[in-house]
Amino acid sequence: MTTLKNRNRKFCAMFVLSLVILYWMYIHRNVGYTKCPCPEVEPLEQQCGHELIATADSERKQFEKESSQERNSSEVSIMRWRAKNVHKMCEQIIWNASYVHARTPVFFYSKQNGLLACKSPKTGSTFIGSFIRALNQPSKNNVSDMFLLGRNKIHNGLNEVSGKLAAERIKQSTLTVMITRDPYSRLFSTFVDKYFLLGRLGRELASHLKRGFREDSNKYCGYDITFQEFLDYVVFLAQSMKELNEHMVPVSQLCDVCNVKYDLICRQESLSEGISEVLRLTKNITSSRLNAIRQSTNTTSPYVSMHSLIPSHIFDYNNHRQDCPNQLSFMRKMWKAFQIQGLVNSVIKFPEEIFSRFLFIEKEAHAIISAILQVIQSNPLSKKQRQQQRLTALNNAYRNIRWETIFNLQKVFKLDFLLFGYSNYPPIMNNITQTTNGYV
Ligand SMILES: *[C@@H]1O[C@H](CO)[C@@H](O)[C@H](O)[C@H]1NC(C)=O
Ligand SMILES: *[C@@H]1O[C@H](CO)[C@@H](O)[C@H](O)[C@H]1NC(C)=O
Ligand SMILES: *[C@@H]1O[C@H](CO)[C@@H](O)[C@H](O)[C@H]1NC(C)=O
Ligand SMILES: *[C@@H]1O[C@H](CO)[C@@H](O)[C@H](O)[C@H]1NC(C)=O
Ligand SMILES: *[C@@H]1O[C@H](CO)[C@@H](O)[C@H](O)[C@H]1NC(C)=O
Ligand SMILES: *[C@@H]1O[C@H](CO)[C@@H](O)[C@H](O)[C@H]1NC(C)=O
Repeated sequence: MTTLKNRNRKFCAMFVLSLVILYWMYIHRNVGYTKCPCPEVEPLEQQCGHELIATADSERKQFEKESSQERNSSEVSIMRWRAKNVHKMCEQIIWNASYVHARTPVFFYSKQNGLLACKSPKTGSTFIGSFIRALNQPSKNNVSDMFLLGRNKIHNGLNEVSGKLAAERIKQSTLTVMITRDPYSRLFSTFVDKYFLLGRLGRELASHLKRGFREDSNKYCGYDITFQEFLDYVVFLAQSMKELNEHMVPVSQLCDVCNVKYDLICRQESLSEGISEVLRLTKNITSSRLNAIRQSTNTTSPYVSMHSLIPSHIFDYNNHRQDCPNQLSFMRKMWKAFQIQGLVNSVIKFPEEIFSRFLFIEKEAHAIISAILQVIQSNPLSKKQRQQQRLTALNNAYRNIRWETIFNLQKVFKLDFLLFGYSNYPPIMNNITQTTNGYV
């Protein structure tokens, strides 16, 4: 009797809850459409929004239920489970509904270790690139240097394969891996890196929107583009079947996850655990090299990130100097980006007197890195604080994004949500769970 009563009560509560949710979505959907000042962006397919959302969310619950059953076993079993589960779900996908135009997959490749790792920007791919390079170094003495190379040096095409060659290598390889990431945090990370800072992508979008530069106390620096406009642009490109830049293509498509048989699928949100498992399973590696790599990858300090980022920011800046003639303005933007990324405590004000010494040119890279690290030391962040700071920035970014945009992003990134078990709500609506703890 009591169980029946309980069941009825549960059922009733669920029914009421779903009514509330449907009502909420109905309101927000209409608000979104009527408020949209941006006529070129329309929903990808006109169909019931709530159906899509409900489907994706239950997939996610299934994912979490199954993966948490294995959670008390090792990280590697979760990564294996994910790789297998993806193929089960791939069979159910209607492909023409979710196709995005993208480049073919590219892999970092280590021949002597039989290891292939899909290259997908904003999912820790610089780290993976450094890792593969460390494996491929003739001398183990150079291993740690590989993790301190500028990001621009890692992505120069060395140690990479694609196309037919990649297909052959996959057949021969012993371990094929990829890394995925929550699409919402990946998009925000792309925005900060490529649109808030300087670069070809930001310039292209500014010109597409017929925008100028962003004013900064009588000077200008960077592009007059908002996060909302960037997201609408991603939707617009996907909707009009134009080729998306690799930073915006769903990872599932960039890594062709339904056709390539991956052994492990790791999440950027637990990258260090993932890499340590990949390392454990890597064949033909001497113990001295293994230890050298372990040491280099066992760090959460901003030290490694700064070595990777500063040379690449200097490189980008000097290629787009005309978009920000005053280097101090650029460094101020960069500082803000570091705070969004949780590398610099947001209470530390931009140290203008330190940065005004620099011209921001290549040969200053080491001096700039040391200066920044010294300032960071003055008020360091714990791991938890870093995560919290990233999360706050991410939540603020999505706080005022129009519902219609979210609705369209859910369609563009549908495969990533479905296949990798991420919630298709932005984190601000989703009240973060343990599944998303690394953001930018
Ligand atoms: C999970 O942990 C429980 C108790 O700690 C144990 O009985 C069970 O065998 C574990 N399951 C796996 C898959 O390791
Ligand atoms: C997918 O393509 C098939 C045949 O080409 C078509 O019948 C179907 O309506 C398409 N589905 C969607 C959602 O576009
Ligand atoms: C193992 O690695 C060494 C170099 O570290 C290489 O010369 C050798 O060919 C590799 N063995 C296999 C089976 O790939
Ligand atoms: C490797 O390390 C040696 C000395 O430790 C150095 O002379 C050499 O330039 C390094 N090679 C690379 C490719 O970094
Ligand atoms: C990482 O480094 C810390 C100390 O810096 C050490 O306690 C820990 O055991 C190391 N972990 C691995 C996996 O080497
Ligand atoms: C999110 O969850 C935490 C506890 O897990 C709670 O304290 C907080 O109020 C929640 N935030 C929102 C916006 O629901």
